[in-house]
Parts: sequence; structure tokens; C-alpha cells
Amino acid sequence: MTISAQSAQSAQAATLTQAADPAPSGVSPWWRSAVIYQVYIRSFADGDGDGLGDIAGLRAKLGYIAGLGVDAIWINPWYPSPMADAGYDVSDYRDVEPRFGTLQDAEALIREAHDLGLRVLLDIVPNHTSDQHPWFQAALAAGPGSRERDRYLFRAGRADDPALPPNDWLSVFGGPAWTQVTEPDGRLGEWYLHLFAPEQPDVNWNDPDVQADFEATLRFWFDRGVDGFRIDVANSLVKEAGLPDLGGRGYPERAEMVAEDWVEHPHWDRSEVHEIYRTWRRVADAYPEPRVFVAEAWVDSPERLARYVRNGELHTAFNFDFLRAPWDARALRATIDTTLAEHAAVGAPPTWVLSNHDVARHVSRYARPQTAPLRSLDDLIGLPADLETGARRARAAALLMLALPGGAYIYQGEELGLPEVEDLPAEVLADPTWERSGHTQRGRDGCRVPIPWEGDAPPFGFSMKGGDGAGAAPTWLPQPADWGRYTVQALDGDPESVLALYRAALRLRRDHPALGDGTLHWLPAPDGVLAFARDPGFVCVVNLSDNPIPLPDGTVMLASGPLTEGQRLPGDTAIWLGLAQG
Ligand code: NOJ
Repeated sequence: MTISAQSAQSAQAATLTQAADPAPSGVSPWWRSAVIYQVYIRSFADGDGDGLGDIAGLRAKLGYIAGLGVDAIWINPWYPSPMADAGYDVSDYRDVEPRFGTLQDAEALIREAHDLGLRVLLDIVPNHTSDQHPWFQAALAAGPGSRERDRYLFRAGRADDPALPPNDWLSVFGGPAWTQVTEPDGRLGEWYLHLFAPEQPDVNWNDPDVQADFEATLRFWFDRGVDGFRIDVANSLVKEAGLPDLGGRGYPERAEMVAEDWVEHPHWDRSEVHEIYRTWRRVADAYPEPRVFVAEAWVDSPERLARYVRNGELHTAFNFDFLRAPWDARALRATIDTTLAEHAAVGAPPTWVLSNHDVARHVSRYARPQTAPLRSLDDLIGLPADLETGARRARAAALLMLALPGGAYIYQGEELGLPEVEDLPAEVLADPTWERSGHTQRGRDGCRVPIPWEGDAPPFGFSMKGGDGAGAAPTWLPQPADWGRYTVQALDGDPESVLALYRAALRLRRDHPALGDGTLHWLPAPDGVLAFARDPGFVCVVNLSDNPIPLPDGTVMLASGPLTEGQRLPGDTAIWLGLAQG
């Protein structure tokens, strides 16, 4: 069977529509179509030569990001932090970590990004603070029963054995989710909850101080021109009253979890959390150019995710089902269909994402047999890898992602085709998962290795001290010696490079009226092939099978790889076609 592109225009069969929900002016707001580039600041570019990325480095590379053709950047936490979890342990939400720069540097960065046409999203961490946050320090000092302890989740140990934690909850990074404190009188006393590391105590969202303070933080950054926030673990803020035992209910971080185990779970995805976001939306909407939110919420299904983007709540949410889907036409089609349908039902645009700083890079995921769920490096270890296939699939996946309706996220380095670094020496691993798992889980450092910019040897231009990086400290994670082939410098100028592919796709996406927010129509296609059209006049075909397939009619605008001699689309390749407008 061949693919019929013409049937797209009549848009008869298998049509899936999505509510348009335009702004009152009739112009679709920017965030409904936005491509947002994720800047993992500690690994992006190092302006002062201490081996850690910073705001000076990011400012120097803003032109590179704008040149890609994205609409915005999202910067991972840059606040003062003891860095127990790479900045997701915040000790002051309204300042900048000195190793990253100053508040003035941040303000300059925001201005410069705006001048280049880039919007700026920050990362807010509302589930937990650092244990060094003044509130937590005050809570420790004030002792049991105090007002200060109410801002967190302090509890006595089990009634039958106070030496045991109050319940059976587990930390995402391994071990119990509770740590016992030494009270001001020197005795072992209460326990506090931390769904992540012990250095990240969970705050109590029933406390009015907590609510008011986070709203003040939103306003603090909005007043400085920030366009929005990514909300860290947006699905965990509210805990079930009484903090009941999980009693064997599954745990979302494990691949083998069963559906529904984390719907209205004692601490994941509880309905009460939505009240917080209705309030936050009012804060954002009070600005003349309304500010936006994107939820980081690993939830059970597209239906549960869509609840976060209902009218009056958040604008968008990361679509991790797409990220988790194997390189398989049926699985991807199912994910795309349910995502579109659930978002259409609430009038919100979907988003698409392939990688981020918490998962193994998709070149390396797609290099593996696609039979078991693959998310972290620890899922990949031991599986045979074919990185050439992974890279080919990653290029095709980029064209798929950027052709789908809604917004998309690019994780720094995916435009360079970076693979996961799988062999970091144990002594450099910094992810708390490594220690908390008793050295059984390597964690997320392999996708966080500093970006290679130029040259033939580490630090590949990552450190810019004095212009050439001479005398710079070693990068905080070592870069593989052979990363010269992935540098921006090596790929720049090569029209076949993955960087050129991203740039071309982003340019077309900006210019083509069919792309971004809107609808798609599936086209009939052979097994293992995804083919859809978008009006006006656009067709995307992704061949995930092993066999080359004939191309439908249309003008080739962009392909993720070479066609075969007879102009057929090989396996693991995607193509964008334009149709003449009648
Ligand atoms: C999600 C962040 O993306 C991750 O890096 C972090 O460790 C946890 N939330 C805890 O804040």
C-alpha cells in the first residue's frame, strides 16, 4: 500500500481535530506553538572558568540559541543552593547562586534574551526547599509543635516504635522518605518528610505562609520580566491527610509500576493540587502580557495530565508519554492520538519532548532494542547498542516532534546529536541517586555532561575563561575525549549535520502556516509508518519499519536522512512534504 498525500487535503479519513482556542484577538498566543530550548545551566557554557556553566556563559551563547530558531529558553534552577540535587534544593528563591552569577547578571540575561526575540522561563521548585533554607533551619531550631515546623511535614515516629519513620513512603532517590532530627535538647526526635533527598525537605502546602511566599516568588521574577515557569514535580505538592502508608501501592519511578497506582496516590497527582495552580494562574494573568506555566508532572495517563491544563489552570504540561514511547509506529500513534484527544477536550495545546536532564538521551535510548520501557541510563545498561541507528532514529524523531500540533521542547545538545555518556567514572557521579541507591543506580549524570562547543579536546570550548579557556578548572563532569565530532564548530557548515537539520526544521516550522498549534489528519500508510497531513499543504511521513517505502506526492521540503536511489523513504527516516495549494 502506498501513502496518499492527496487524501490529506480532503481530510476525510481518520481525521483528528483539536480545539483551536485562539486568543480573543484571534491570534494564537505564542506558547501554543512554542519551541522551547532547555538550558541546563551548569552544563551549558562556563564564562568564568570554574568548570561549571553560568549566566555569563549563557549570555555569550544566546545568539547561538536564537540562531536555532526557537521561541524561548527554559533555564534549570539558578538560585542559591548547596547543590545536593544540582540546584533543585533551593535555599533562596529570590536570588542567584553566586557560582552562576548575580541577580544583575540574571536581569541582563533576561533583557538580552528579549532583545533577541527569546522568551525566558525559569524553574520553580515548590515541593521542597533546601535543608539550608532559613525556614528549615528555623524549624529545626524551634522544636516540635512550633509554628516554624508547620511549614514542613514533621511527625513523630510510629506510635508503636518511635525509632521507625511515621510511614512507609520512599524517596525517589532511594531509601526511606523520612529523616529523624536531633532536637534542640540533643535528643533524637521528630522525622521530616523528603520525597527526594534528605537535603530537600517537603514543604506543607496547607500552610498559608508557604502559599503566600511562593506567590511572592512568582511575582518577584515576573516583575523582572520573566515570561513563565516550569513547575518542578507539579504533581506532588499535596499529600493525603494523615499521611497513610502506601501499603504496597506501586511507585511511579519504577518502570514496572501498574497503571492507576499513582492516581490519587497518597502523594502523587492528588486532585487538591489543582487549587494551587488556579491561584497561580490568577497571579500570572494579572500581568499585561500574561505569564505562562508548564507543569513537570509524571502522571498516569494523558487524561490525568490534561487536568493540569484545564481552563484557569496551567498553560501547558510536558508530555512524558511521548518521551517514554518506544520507537514503534503503533505505540507512537497511540500516544499521539490520546494526547491530542485529551488536550483537545480541555482546549489546551499538547507539547512534545524527547529528552531532558532526568532521562537518558534519546540517541542512546533509540539505539537499544525497543522492547522494555527505557527511561534512565540504568534501564539501558547491559542492552546491546547500535548508536548509528539511534542517531538516525533521533533525527527522524525530531522531524516527527516538530511537525506535531502544539509546542515542543529541545534539550541542549540534542541538536548536536549527543548520546548519553554511559561510562562516567564512579568517583565523579554527582546525582544523589548514586549514593542513595547504595551505588546500584548510576542516575542521571550521563545526560548532563557539559556541551562541546569547539576544538578537539576537553573542555571543547565549554570554559571560556579569558576567551580560550586557558587555565580553566576541569569541567564538573568530564567530557568524553572523542566529543570533538559533536561540537557546534564541527557541525556548523555541514549541511548534512543534525544541527543543520534542527535549524532547517525550526525555520520551516516558523514559516509554514500549517505548523505549530492546530490539527492533524492521519493518512493511510503501511504498517510501521506514520503519515499525517496538516492544513494547509503539509505532510509528514515517518518510516519506522525496515523497508523503504514510496513517497507520496508533494515537494520534498526536508528529510531526516538520504532517500534511496529510487526516491524511496528508507527505514528510520522522516520527511516533510509540501503540497501545492489549489
Ligand atoms: C524533577 C527535576 O527535573 C529533577 O532533576 C529533580 O531531581 C527533582 N524534580 C527534584 O526536584
